[in-house]
Amino acid sequence: MHAIALFLLPLAVAICQDCDTEDVNLLNVHRDHHQPRHRTPSADTGGYVACTYNKTYGYPDGVVQVDPSSTGTPLSELDSRCSENSVAYVDDSEEASCILNSPGTYYDYGNWYASKACPYPAGATEYPTVTTQAQCETYYNNFVALGDNITINGTFYKLGIGHGPLKGVRGNCYFMEYESRYALIFQVDIRSWSFEFTYDTLQYIYNNQGDPGGTCLIPNVQIVDCADIPGMA
Ligand SMILES: *[C@@H]1O[C@H](CO)[C@@H](O)[C@H](O)[C@H]1NC(C)=O
Ligand SMILES: *[C@@H]1O[C@H](CO)[C@@H](O)[C@H](O)[C@H]1NC(C)=O
Ligand SMILES: *[C@@H]1O[C@H](CO)[C@@H](O)[C@H](O)[C@H]1NC(C)=O
Repeated sequence: MHAIALFLLPLAVAICQDCDTEDVNLLNVHRDHHQPRHRTPSADTGGYVACTYNKTYGYPDGVVQVDPSSTGTPLSELDSRCSENSVAYVDDSEEASCILNSPGTYYDYGNWYASKACPYPAGATEYPTVTTQAQCETYYNNFVALGDNITINGTFYKLGIGHGPLKGVRGNCYFMEYESRYALIFQVDIRSWSFEFTYDTLQYIYNNQGDPGGTCLIPNVQIVDCADIPGMA
């Protein structure tokens, strides 16, 4: 098990180096799922669900904001990590589970800025609201200005930026819960089974256990309207 974890580490890092690039990958080979599925509500805002991401959903039209290496089926590293750890997961032609992974410093705030987080003139997000590119940039800047953490309705959330879940696209905000620890993430990049976000936020969620490489840890997620976050609108 330990040898496998070490072996997989470079692969996880390599995936993140692709995070800026994406294209439409229609190679969705059908594969029967042999594990329980966690269907997501269509609007993606109906409460926490075990994290999955949609492999084919496009927004703006034709732009599938998924890591190109996360669109096919089967996804061998996801499958081997979850099988090795006997965790029920999803990997079919439409969607796959997202599992905690370390991005290193890639999602440190210093590496990001509004126009990089919001690259599409046609708009930034559809779930739960349509946002223009300008609104996305404003949201990004307001999010960064919130700082390290926020308490909303009595729940403490560590803040971060990174990948997206469900049908998320750049400009979405989402809550994450793992072992009763919570984060609020602004999606600045693609969707992927390799679920990556700001390193400090990962450490908070993962209880300072370092790099989750080799594990299959599926947090719960819920997309929220960025405008519902105090200080964002
Ligand atoms: C994923 O998105 C596609 C394209 O919008 C949609 O047809 C499909 O139902 C979605 N799958 C899931 C599981 O949400
Ligand atoms: C929350 O963030 C503030 C700064 O914005 C910091 O002083 C405080 O220590 C943080 N709280 C926790 C529990 O990390
Ligand atoms: C906080 O609670 C209020 C009142 O129940 C609710 O309307 C609001 O949506 C909650 N905010 C968030 C971000 O969940």
